Amino acid sequence: MNSFSLQTQLYSGQGSLDVLKRFSNKHIWIICDSFLARSPLIEKLRNALPADNRISIFSDITPDPTIGTVVQGIAQMQSLQPDVVIGFGGGSALDAAKAIVWFSRQFGIEIETCVAIPTTSGTGSEVTSACVISDPEKGIKYPLFNNALYPDMAILDPMLVVSVPPAITANTGLDVLTHALEAYVSTKASDFTDALAEKSAQIVFQYLPVAVSKGDCLATRGKMHNASTLAGMAFSQAGLGINHAIAHQLGGQFHLPHGLANALLLTRVIQFNARDPRAAKRYARFAKACHLCPDSANDTAALNALIHHIEQLKKQCALPTFIDALKDEKHTWSQRIPSMVQAALADVTLQTNPRVADASAIQELLEELL
Ligand SMILES: NC(=O)c1ccc[n+]([C@@H]2O[C@H](COP(=O)([O-])OP(=O)(O)OC[C@H]3O[C@@H](n4cnc5c(N)ncnc54)[C@H](O)[C@@H]3O)[C@@H](O)[C@H]2O)c1
Ligand SMILES: [Zn+2]
Repeated sequence: MNSFSLQTQLYSGQGSLDVLKRFSNKHIWIICDSFLARSPLIEKLRNALPADNRISIFSDITPDPTIGTVVQGIAQMQSLQPDVVIGFGGGSALDAAKAIVWFSRQFGIEIETCVAIPTTSGTGSEVTSACVISDPEKGIKYPLFNNALYPDMAILDPMLVVSVPPAITANTGLDVLTHALEAYVSTKASDFTDALAEKSAQIVFQYLPVAVSKGDCLATRGKMHNASTLAGMAFSQAGLGINHAIAHQLGGQFHLPHGLANALLLTRVIQFNARDPRAAKRYARFAKACHLCPDSANDTAALNALIHHIEQLKKQCALPTFIDALKDEKHTWSQRIPSMVQAALADVTLQTNPRVADASAIQELLEELL
């Protein structure tokens, strides 16, 4: 049996921040990082909120939010008791806000509305039942999935993304493509998630290079914002796979940005998974759905076209190669493999990978990378 649910009320397009005008006489707590708290974007958010609201800000979120930050946030929540929580930022701020709200509600704190407002187009966290919290001491990122993590509202206003620099646009855009691909080949994929994943990936192939080179184009930013949310809807239902299970280790141990870690692995993972015949067929279908090869192409030609176009996209977006990105870590790489293998095996995203991957398969994949 398959199930599918959309639990977040979504508002999208230019001017969608105006939906915040509905909040009146509330205590609103904004959760963001220190960069956004100092940027003009926070003023845009403040200006969208009617003046009779009381606004507080928690701006201690760092990339890959930690257990410690979430605990600190829950303590502040207990003393502030806000009516509305707004997660404002990239996936790190949204995940932290979602986790703080989730645990606080379990402690009996009543929060009327949890709002997610992404300022990057990448994680889809605004519509997912997931959050990723890190333990910096162990170097492990823990993805958590629970239906209580869906935000109540999400606002996709492309105006908030035009300031994202090219490298972060590229990294986050490749995260979108990884979500779409992993959801598509997942063991839990369905017609519903396929439709979302295909549309998302079509947009990424067409618009990501433009978003990287012409970041001020609002129409393009709007498309990438939609692609990110579509892929989030897909993977929130269908799950992810080994690409994320390993990328979480590259983030946890080497602090690579999440989207970049995914991008560096993507074509190697496709080659690894495609040794499973069902997965190979699914990749071929994905390539055709994205118009990367003629409909008449056989499965091998379609698979090769997919790999070729992803590598081209990465070049167009000026992403580094795996070896360049991790050259300073080359000397410790083989020592780190055993702990990465164990953590990847325990990572919940591995469960829906199309090819069963045991410790020796993951080890082999990691050994081939550097
Ligand atoms: N919950 C989910 O479903 C999900 C899915 C995938 C990834 N994640 C997690 O999300 C995190 C990554 O999120 P991310 O890729 O959005 O990065 P991020 O949130 O860490 O942000 C990256 C950088 O971009 C900056 N930034 C954000 N918005 C900006 C803007 N408008 N202009 C200029 N700079 C801006 C931030 O200040 C930060 O320095 C990781 O921890 C990852 O594991 C969560
Ligand atoms: Zn991701």
